[in-house]
Amino acid sequence: MHPFTFTTVKTVISESGSSARLGEIAAGLGITRALIVTDPGIVKFGLLEPALASLQAANIPVTIYSDVVADPPEAKVLDSLQLARDAGIDGVIGLGGGSSMDVAKVIALLTKSAQTLPEVYGVGNAKGTRLPLIQVPTTAGTGSEVTPIAIITTGETTKTGIVSPLLYADVALLDADLTLGLPPAVTAATGIDAMVHAIEAYTSKIRKNPYSDVLAREALRLLAANLVTVVEDGQNREARQAVLFGAMLAGQAFANAPVAAVHALAYPLGGHYHISHGLSNSLVLPAVLRFNLPAAAPLYAELMTVLEPEAEGTEPELARAFVESMTAQIAAVGLPVRLRDLNVPEADLPMLARDAMAQQRLLVNNPRTVSEADALAIYQEVY
Ligand SMILES: NC(=O)c1ccc[n+]([C@@H]2O[C@H](COP(=O)([O-])OP(=O)(O)OC[C@H]3O[C@@H](n4cnc5c(N)ncnc54)[C@H](O)[C@@H]3O)[C@@H](O)[C@H]2O)c1
Ligand SMILES: [Fe+2]
Repeated sequence: MHPFTFTTVKTVISESGSSARLGEIAAGLGITRALIVTDPGIVKFGLLEPALASLQAANIPVTIYSDVVADPPEAKVLDSLQLARDAGIDGVIGLGGGSSMDVAKVIALLTKSAQTLPEVYGVGNAKGTRLPLIQVPTTAGTGSEVTPIAIITTGETTKTGIVSPLLYADVALLDADLTLGLPPAVTAATGIDAMVHAIEAYTSKIRKNPYSDVLAREALRLLAANLVTVVEDGQNREARQAVLFGAMLAGQAFANAPVAAVHALAYPLGGHYHISHGLSNSLVLPAVLRFNLPAAAPLYAELMTVLEPEAEGTEPELARAFVESMTAQIAAVGLPVRLRDLNVPEADLPMLARDAMAQQRLLVNNPRTVSEADALAIYQEVY
């Protein structure tokens, strides 16, 4: 076994209804004045209420920043940072999807820092300490509650990452009750995103490791077993908690064995057309898996036996069956599968391929080298 290092958040609480305990959890971290970072949808659906009641009971005054938008742009991050500084907060709670949790990370990092936002972009550039940070996901997808990554949209369309161990939260709180009302289309897209995290961690070229492998396999098993159920019956609390836990396991896996070409080719779709992160991943997934087959067949064959322990066949047969099974999973959850159905102009495909090449941070992890011509061929296949 080759040497590896594995890092994750210190405390995970997986319990439906647990957001009603946020007050006591925040107090335990020494928080006396909290900022909740969230988006307007979360407020509208009443998802803050148990958290607010509990923080009030613990005598912790709360400031709410609820203007996060999907694929958060830099300007929104700077707004929320100003609010945090003005309010004199000493702890941050991200409560929402990946977008809210990513903004929460940056605020926890920069509220008391001398560094500016541009200074912390990239890998390992953040310095010093951060405020206490609790992450409460309301989608079962990004795994952001357990990753050391925040993705910010810079300029008009580019997705830029901040990667630092400082971004690991103190507590990840998995309360499936918050996901019961998640609409089927969002449930489907975010769930496929989580499956992609598991798959790309398992085949990650440089930092694949036995610890992430265990997590990725269990994540994929839980997600495959429960995703169709939660898309069809959103109120199924048991299945919702299983999917939330699976998405978190996938997050822990890819935090240590990073994602690759599916994410690299997905990002330009989010940047240019505001196609959601999960759907962007889902759109390119089958074509990227087919492209990777010559390099990743042994690992895809192993993942096929995670999906179906009884599956039989030669290694190439099992690997192809895995690609087919993931393609069928996307159909079963009802997501669109063609770029043309999302009004992506065909003439844009070369530009998308060029943009994908900018994601070298991710592409270096792909089991097979992806050239710009390969990226273009993949987009054409999906068109
Ligand atoms: N930090 C990481 O490791 C990481 C990993 C992958 C993706 N990301 C980033 O995460 C973002 C995507 O996050 P996301 O897919 O979770 O979506 P999101 O946070 O952008 O939210 C999407 C929509 O779903 C709604 N929503 C969320 N929870 C809901 C609920 N329980 N009920 C009803 N509506 C709900 C929101 O109001 C919003 O309109 C992207 O910016 C992506 O780049 C980060
Ligand atoms: Fe993702």
